[in-house]
Amino acid sequence: MKRLQSLCVSVLAVLTLAGCERPPVDSVQRGYRGTGMEQVYNPRTLAERAALNTPPEELPAASPDGPKAGQVYQNVKVLGNQSVGEFARTMVAMTNWVAPKQGCVHCHNAQNFADDSLYTKVVARRMLQMTQKINTDYKSHVGTTGVTCYTCHRGQNVPNETWFKPLVPKGANSFAGDKAGQNQPAMTVGLSSLPVDPFTPFLLEARDIRVQGDTALPAGNRHSIKQAEWTYGLMVHMSSALGVNCSQCHNTRSFGDWNNSSPPRLTAWHGIRMARELNNEFMLPLTDSFPAHRLGPGGDVAKLNCATCHQGAHKPLYGATMAMSHPELLTKSLEAGLPAAAASATTTGALTTDDLKTLSLLPASTAQPKLKVATSSE
Ligand code: HEC
Ligand code: HEC
Ligand code: HEC
Ligand code: HEC
Repeated sequence: MKRLQSLCVSVLAVLTLAGCERPPVDSVQRGYRGTGMEQVYNPRTLAERAALNTPPEELPAASPDGPKAGQVYQNVKVLGNQSVGEFARTMVAMTNWVAPKQGCVHCHNAQNFADDSLYTKVVARRMLQMTQKINTDYKSHVGTTGVTCYTCHRGQNVPNETWFKPLVPKGANSFAGDKAGQNQPAMTVGLSSLPVDPFTPFLLEARDIRVQGDTALPAGNRHSIKQAEWTYGLMVHMSSALGVNCSQCHNTRSFGDWNNSSPPRLTAWHGIRMARELNNEFMLPLTDSFPAHRLGPGGDVAKLNCATCHQGAHKPLYGATMAMSHPELLTKSLEAGLPAAAASATTTGALTTDDLKTLSLLPASTAQPKLKVATSSE
């Protein structure tokens, strides 16, 4: 009996501890010695993530010769400059990336491929333009790695990670004033008591993320603790979306200081602007195109955040350069004339000093932060 009891206790202990991470874990130094800029990795979690982040096999290139899709088909508004062969390749790739189970009929009326009656086709056309926009206007974030439909969709109709505005019960907690969505455990902010919707203010609206004063004594910084908590909510999302600690971007000695931050922080700065613009320019205007069952509890359209592309990896698909073999996604095809040949340059993904120089030449009105590059170790 005693033996059975102790067996039960040890089984229980094993089950309880299974929730914790088993050592050993690895750490990687990302900043100057002694600054605590280290990333802690669990090799087993990384192995699991690597398997989930393997890109699918590439389709063989199609011939650019022959008549253009815009001349042959009736209702082609984005991909008209592709040859018919390239156009067919794009359709097959889109099917693999977004609707491998349903096939072409996910977006098409099989009787008439030119017909726009399925909402999925209407949305997919905007998605093509959105993907082109990301790859052309946001090189500051996606570099030459770029994105394809697969970056977000991963072989599924609807991406794994999207967000809706949570419904805030009217009059809830009115005694204590506006609780700003706190103390409602939510995965978006790691089950902490931070505001549960850090997305609306920053990835839809353009509220101030920077809240810290930059003087030792109070000198006119009117940001409240509540605003700081919203910033922290966003930061928790960013860290978990990328599978990194705060110190991937910040020197924890001074979170606000750009001179003490690492290059990924600048990439993230552009990522915030990109997510905001994509939500406003592409997702919101699609609200009426989606059927009601695809909308959120408050009737809003699904929106994207850092996790939509990153899905736990510091670079989506660990930097796999899938978009290279899809030049039609790398230019705004109709505006730019014939799609350019696939870029041949490969990239390490890291920002170079030249990139930074170019970036800081942007007009001051965009409040482009200037960053002194902190090399990985001294
Ligand atoms: C994810 C949605 C989606 C899937 C899946 C899809 N298509 Fe399309 N298809 C589109 C969109 C969007 C257009 C219009 C493109 C444009 O305006 O540039 C289009 C246009 C076409 C056209 C031109 C029709 C015309 O006359 O205007 C043909 C042909 C076509 N697709 C064939 C296919 C085939 C074959 C498959 C399956 C292998 C397929 N599509 C799968 C979204 C899709
Ligand atoms: C940056 C991320 C992202 C990229 C890249 C992207 N999508 Fe989407 N897509 C979304 C989001 C977010 C939704 C809305 C999901 C929802 O309704 O819950 C969506 C919805 C769709 C839908 C409607 C799905 C449904 O069943 O309701 C289609 C079709 C679609 N995308 C096709 C594409 C195609 C084709 C491409 C590539 C040309 C593409 N997407 C690229 C994020 C993306
Ligand atoms: C992927 C990079 C990245 C990660 C990871 C990250 N941050 Fe940030 N953080 C930023 C960027 C970029 C800004 C500035 C945003 C802006 O100005 O639009 C910022 C701003 C801040 C600010 C406001 C600074 C000021 O000037 O007031 C604080 C505080 C902060 N982060 C804390 C954190 C904490 C805590 C974590 C971990 C939970 C974290 N960050 C993780 C990139 C990151
Ligand atoms: C449309 C898809 C997409 C979205 C949305 C997105 N990213 Fe990225 N991000 C990428 C791609 C692709 C790369 C790889 C760029 C490269 O290889 O140079 C990247 C790279 C980064 C890097 C640099 C990683 C490194 O190790 O150098 C950081 C940091 C980052 N993203 C943060 C963010 C944050 C924070 C958000 C949300 C505010 C975000 N991203 C939203 C696609 C996206």
